[in-house]
Order: sequence, then structure tokens, then C-alpha cells
Amino acid sequence: MSDALTYLIKARPDAIKPYFTFLKQAGTHLDPKTRNLISVITKVHAQTEKGLRQYLTRALREGASAHEILDALLMAFPALGLAKIVWAVDIILDMDIPEFRPEMLDVKPEWHDVAALEEIPADEVSYRDCEGRSLFVYRQDDSLKVYDSRCPHQVTNIPHLALEGTRLTCPKHQWSFDIVSGECIDKGDRPLNEFQHRVENGRLLAYW
Ligand code: FES
Repeated sequence: MSDALTYLIKARPDAIKPYFTFLKQAGTHLDPKTRNLISVITKVHAQTEKGLRQYLTRALREGASAHEILDALLMAFPALGLAKIVWAVDIILDMDIPEFRPEMLDVKPEWHDVAALEEIPADEVSYRDCEGRSLFVYRQDDSLKVYDSRCPHQVTNIPHLALEGTRLTCPKHQWSFDIVSGECIDKGDRPLNEFQHRVENGRLLAYW
């Protein structure tokens, strides 16, 4: 939420809180993906970059594909016009989201070969690049966790250097995560995105 809205909630709660109640109740019959796609369009219409980044991330998290987001933008052409659509696409490109890369647009989810299991040290966090994505892999005894390096807040690619022990802190707005559990432990409210994984013939595979 913007600093201005946070301020108004404190300064004029009787006027602003009903507005948020209205927003919350207005979309109760829509599924989360559709709600977030509509919010993406309203943020583009209002040209609020922060809001666009926020709701784009939410739409992706709720399962919207890059093509569905592009469809929503293009279908809103009569309201948005080309200039606002181009403005939005420039921001999406700046976010460098793997799903939007031209070569990834039509790729269906599949299993990816991450590494040989013996290359992944125990009780440590490994950083791996794998087919257009970066991953944090944590191994403890027989248990493994494979996390997307993209921050669940606004898709920032969290670098390896952001790791201190098992604490990972996103450089953009300082959300911190515990790599052991994936939970957000400071500033934010959402866990790291974890990929499904399996071990086959001594190799770690992950699904995205
Ligand atoms: S993008 Fe905001 S904390 Fe990571």
C-alpha cells in the first residue's frame, strides 16, 4: 500500500476504511486469478507502477500465465489505449520475469534437471542456475527444498549475495526469509515460492 493511503487510513479512518471494505466485497464472486487480472488492468489504467508490479505478481501467483496477462491487457485496449499498454509492457520487461521471455511464452510446465545429488552439499544452501531460472536449494539429511530466487513480493531476482547463513533478504524492500522453512520472517507476509522436486537416478529434478 502507498504511504499516502497508509497516512489517510490513520488521518481519516472513517472516510477511507469503507473504501477498502467496498473494494474487498466488490469481487467476492470472482476467483482470485480473475480478481488480480482485473486489478492489473485498473493499475495500468491509473498508471501506478507500484500497483502494477504488485498485482502482476499476485496474478502470476494465482496461476495466470504470461499469455493470459497479455490477453487481459490487449482486451482492455478500448479503455487503456496503446500508450498505456506499451507503458505496462515496458514495466513487465523491466521486471525480467522468466515467463514473459519470448522463448518461454509457450513452454508448458515440465521437469528440469537441476544437478547431481552428490553435487549438493548437506546443511548448506546452494545457488543454481537452471534453464532460465535461478534456484536456492537447501539440503538437510534426506530432505530437500528447491526455491525460486524470485521474491514473492514483486518478483525481484534475489541474488546469491543476499544470503546470510540460512537467512535470505531481498534487496528491493528487505523482506527476509528462512531458507529452512521458506517462511517470510521479516517485513513481508508471503513465503518463498517452492518448486516441486524429486530425485531420479541420483539427479535432482524440479518442476516448473
Ligand atoms: S520485491 Fe519487494 S521485498 Fe522483494
